[in-house]
Amino acid sequence: MTRNNPDMKGFSTRAIHRGYDPYEAPGALNPPIHVSSTYTFPTVEDGSARFAGEQEGFIYSRTGNPTTALLEERIADLEGGEAALVTASGMGATAALLWTILAPGDEVIADKTLYGCTFGFFNHGLAKFGIRITHVDLTDPANLEAAISLRTKAVFFESPANPNMRLVDIAAVAAVAHAHGAPVIVDNTYCTPYLQRPLELGADYVVHSATKYLGGHGDLIAGAIVGPKESITKIRYYGLKDMTGAVLSSQDAFLILRGLKTLSIRMERHSENAQGIAEFLASHDKVAVCHYPGLSSFPQRELAERQMKLPGGMVAFELRGGIEAGRRFMNALQLITRAVSLGDAESLAQHPASMTHSFYTPEERMLHLIEEGLVRISAGLEDLDDLLRDISQALSAV
Ligand SMILES: Cc1ncc(COP(=O)(O)O)c(C=O)c1O
Repeated sequence: MTRNNPDMKGFSTRAIHRGYDPYEAPGALNPPIHVSSTYTFPTVEDGSARFAGEQEGFIYSRTGNPTTALLEERIADLEGGEAALVTASGMGATAALLWTILAPGDEVIADKTLYGCTFGFFNHGLAKFGIRITHVDLTDPANLEAAISLRTKAVFFESPANPNMRLVDIAAVAAVAHAHGAPVIVDNTYCTPYLQRPLELGADYVVHSATKYLGGHGDLIAGAIVGPKESITKIRYYGLKDMTGAVLSSQDAFLILRGLKTLSIRMERHSENAQGIAEFLASHDKVAVCHYPGLSSFPQRELAERQMKLPGGMVAFELRGGIEAGRRFMNALQLITRAVSLGDAESLAQHPASMTHSFYTPEERMLHLIEEGLVRISAGLEDLDDLLRDISQALSAV
């Protein structure tokens, strides 16, 4: 019986087995995909008890489904959290969480650099409803100490940040935030729990775009929130059920369960390829700067080694010659695919200023430390030599 066997300690073992017993009738190796919008109540009293939260059991798939519930159990376990909630997108996860914990008059302190749509949701969405958004450079926790107030009801950041790879010291920022009673939310999309577990470092919530490494195959859009059980229940019955309705389908939940089985070996290979790409770029005379936590030139190398198991699969760099050189490089790529998103088997390249971070104005990009000429590569699972050949020929076109 593997379901929750106490001997099951290793990350890879839990990513494959946690929460499912393959000996359960009818003995299928893989868990079933439950395709049902609604669930039966043995009696009207049972139905009423489930609505009142006094009886375990499913009601309607907007609040839970056995396949998504298995995925939630597995993700919570891998992140080291009490409970998880999966959603129809990464944006759905952040929105469901923040709509639940914030009220008009509250403040969110966020790092200077955020994924473009998260920046849009904060500054064009939440701000419209009376929530103050303050951007602070969280790479120095002293900046948080200076900015935080009684109004601050969430501290939000990515580490590494998308797209410029700045790191935030999770434990140090959590210590400052907690001294002022503010919960800390970390977007752990770039790392996955295999490389970094923010809750163990003091964060209160983790959010994910499961579209990326957790799914791992570029074939779905999904998100997840991990945190305290009581809070996750609130987010499920308010932020998800009433405010966003961003419900993940059981088919997509199944695909993520399948993706998780190979998460650890994929992250090792993504990191290995990214390290090779970063070293090649850093030593190339057409490259002005390469940002990758595995490089000895990376300014936050010590923090990377302390906080992350491996430096991860994402590389950002700037070419001498700026934005025009970046465009030429991207258009010359033959194997690495020009596309947004990340964490897939295929290596992907994109230009944040004209794609994922075009929701910032040029002035905002400057203020938020996103260089106009920055190119971002998500290192895939191909053979490194083939990737380097492609990068080399694309650089010669610059
Ligand atoms: C760091 C990060 N967080 C959140 C998101 C949003 O996720 P989704 O596209 O699944 O809504 C993305 C998407 O690119 C991302 O890169």
